[in-house]
Amino acid sequence: MIILGIESSCDDTAICLLNDGKEILAEKKNDQNALHAAFGGIVPEVAARRHLEVLNVLLRDALIEANLSFEDIDLIAVTHAPGLIGSLAVGVSAAKALSLSLGIPLVGVHHIEGHLLSTLYHHEVEFPALGLVVSGGNTDLYLVEGFGRYELLGQTRDDAVGECLDKIAKHFGLGYPGGPILEKLAGDIREDRYRFTRPMLGTPDLDFSYSGLKTAVIYHFRDLGRPPTDAELPHFAYSVQAAAYEVLVRKTLRAAKEHSTSRVLVSGGVAASKLLREMMCADHKQGTLEPYFPPLKHCTDNALMIAYTGWHLFNRGVTHGQELEAAASLPV
Ligand code: KG4
Repeated sequence: MIILGIESSCDDTAICLLNDGKEILAEKKNDQNALHAAFGGIVPEVAARRHLEVLNVLLRDALIEANLSFEDIDLIAVTHAPGLIGSLAVGVSAAKALSLSLGIPLVGVHHIEGHLLSTLYHHEVEFPALGLVVSGGNTDLYLVEGFGRYELLGQTRDDAVGECLDKIAKHFGLGYPGGPILEKLAGDIREDRYRFTRPMLGTPDLDFSYSGLKTAVIYHFRDLGRPPTDAELPHFAYSVQAAAYEVLVRKTLRAAKEHSTSRVLVSGGVAASKLLREMMCADHKQGTLEPYFPPLKHCTDNALMIAYTGWHLFNRGVTHGQELEAAASLPV
């Protein structure tokens, strides 16, 4: 069975042709980082317009690379929620048109379920496991008891962790997206000179908060009356990341204890962080985790996770017709 995966929920347009949930026949992606860098963040209308411009081109290129034609596709899987509504609408409209004209089934995929399962395409992991989805839009902790069986244990009450990194980088004129920029600036530094606040680290729940970290970092330099100097930037970049990731690791350790599993599926753009990977793999006095990560290119938004999740849904009897709608927010 050839599955066409389409992802356009935010600022990445991605296409994947997958054979039977196993073999990647072609993957194409267009990220819009350069387009949005001038604004220091994503502009929804600009994102939707770019999806429209590139989706057909990526689809044609993927079919050529896989040596397939439209008639070879058996199933279409598309991200339909959550995300930017204009961006989602482009992918969903394309998927519905293809499904109708080719007479093949269509499955709408929840973007977060896609991230959760992206790790399982690459690793065999026993259930139950925890699922930590960390990106520019989400900071969610789930209990994953099987395919389609997810319980939300905690989530951010304000900014997502990637959003916090992006906003801090934007504030100090360092560029966009902030996560990889701060990672590069910090290099191999592992000394936490600034000890920025760790919001909600000590609360008994499994929720997160990142707007306080952003404010604390900005106020620290406002009080100094100047931004970090070039010489201070590497330690600054390390301390921001250390504060952000310590809360992720400590809350995941708490969830691991509460749910008697140390296995963690880590996904989303921030899962590409080298420092987060190191911290998740380290021994802590609260315990040790057994984290599983997708390869770097499948941490950020991609269509493999959508094709793979769509294939799982289809095998469980799920299909959607032309009534499938894009939705900006929807629980998993
Ligand atoms: O999953 P994603 O591609 O898009 C959504 O937000 O849905 O994630 C993008 C986020 C951005 O906030 C970006 O700063 C962050 O992932 N990111 C990273 C790294 N690469 C991307 N954060 C930390 N370290 C990285 N290497």
